[in-house]
Amino acid sequence: MEPMRILHVCAEMYPLLKTGGLADVTGALPKAQLKQKAEARVLLPGFPAVKDKMGPTDLVAVIDTFAGRAALSFGYFDGVGVYVIDAPHLFHREGSPYHDEYQNAYQDNYLRFGLLGWIGADLTRGLDSMWRPDIIHAHDWHAGLACAYLAEMDSHERTKSVFTIHNLAYQGCFAPIHMAQLHLPWYLYNMNGLEYYGQISFMKAGIFFADHVTTVSPTYAREILGPENGFGMQGLLSLRASQGRLTGILNGIDDVVWDPKTDPLIPQNFDKRTLNARLADKEALQKEFHLEVTNSKPLFGVVSRLVHQKGLDLVLEALPFIMEQGGQFVLLGSGEQWLERGFEDFAHNNPAYRGNVAVRLGYDDALSHRITAGSDVLMVPSRFEPCGLTQMAALRYGSLPLVHNTGGLADTVVNSTVENVDNKTATGFIFYDCNRDALQGAVSRAMELWKSRKTWRTIQQRAMTRNFGWKESARQYLDIYRKLL
Ligand code: ADP
Ligand code: GLC
Repeated sequence: MEPMRILHVCAEMYPLLKTGGLADVTGALPKAQLKQKAEARVLLPGFPAVKDKMGPTDLVAVIDTFAGRAALSFGYFDGVGVYVIDAPHLFHREGSPYHDEYQNAYQDNYLRFGLLGWIGADLTRGLDSMWRPDIIHAHDWHAGLACAYLAEMDSHERTKSVFTIHNLAYQGCFAPIHMAQLHLPWYLYNMNGLEYYGQISFMKAGIFFADHVTTVSPTYAREILGPENGFGMQGLLSLRASQGRLTGILNGIDDVVWDPKTDPLIPQNFDKRTLNARLADKEALQKEFHLEVTNSKPLFGVVSRLVHQKGLDLVLEALPFIMEQGGQFVLLGSGEQWLERGFEDFAHNNPAYRGNVAVRLGYDDALSHRITAGSDVLMVPSRFEPCGLTQMAALRYGSLPLVHNTGGLADTVVNSTVENVDNKTATGFIFYDCNRDALQGAVSRAMELWKSRKTWRTIQQRAMTRNFGWKESARQYLDIYRKLL
């Protein structure tokens, strides 16, 4: 039997280009599918970082499109086949792939990502005469139009599509005036189509037109059916769920990239049998950030995009409490200015806390590993979290996650209640109401448990044995594709 051919259509892929967890997923899932004898490839826009890291590729086709001329090329990266859309007038911009240096979304994003969807669909029509996908797997709004273009092909033979929602908060909305230019027939501009409150929504196009919709954790798949997390799409999502066409599949983490035993990015490797060695990672982190070098204080870490979703303003409010309770704190993050400022000001303007708090603004892959390896608690207080990957990495590295009870966080962390500690299931700390007091309650529980180092260590060891590899999730995606075929 021929292996199934899957094309992942997406805007980023680790390690070629990453702004968040989406890239981790599109970096790891195709590899896991290759291991399961499917032939997975990826289609990416030719952003500068992607082109640089890909190196030489083979030209597949040059086409004139609604977004101008584009060259499609193909090469292998780390064993995975990658198509790159070369269209410098659209993609050759330094910095974020989505917005300019002032955080303003690029005016021509509808064309940049419309083209991504268009070429995804074109590959099913034989744009590459050597390879035609059986399944288009589109990720997030950037790739949503691929599902609309496919649905417009009327042949029964047309390729089936799966659309994965990584974050419903980003919906890719554009003025309806662009319909014609994007080769979208007007009748699609409809409540039963891709119209969303008077705009074209690429996200809605994916949800409406895909043959199957998935999202990245079972709990988030339920949460998006309600008004609080449905971002206005709850009606459509409920319809898709009632058709049996909405599934929550938990992400994994790349267990080669995130393995404390072999990770080249941390000062000292360790595993659950050699946990004592982990102390060297904590000490190195404390030294790097000019914190007091001690193991008597638990070190709370954060690695995150600094946006409202992530709930870090609650951490900012709780920082005096963490300090007074005798904790240390280190943050790595970048994003919205009010949060960047807030953390930086706290670190600089409180001499009383000097040596116990440190903030690094920016994006730094290697440092994110050192914080995961060197912290005792990793905080992920997100207001909502479709899946979340940092808490899974933290578990694997024996840094106990402290999380809000939402989405994938609720699916991956078991709260250290007295009962769960006794029955040997606890792996972290959960707070339920999304406010400062509740978060501080969880901090207090962590502080209390810290006093009993033996119990702490048992929980760490348990956390480290939790399996968040991609094998099972990759199998679930393959099951969905098979049903569609
Ligand atoms: P999201 O995709 O919403 O940002 P996830 O938890 O799914 O959230 O994924 C975030 C990914 O980005 C993780 O791999 C995390 O380690 C990484 N990350 C986030 N912020 C930074 C940063 N400032 N520096 C390095 N890595 C970061
Ligand atoms: C999004 C979500 C995050 C998820 C990631 C990968 O960025 O915010 O929760 O883990 O996508 O699916």
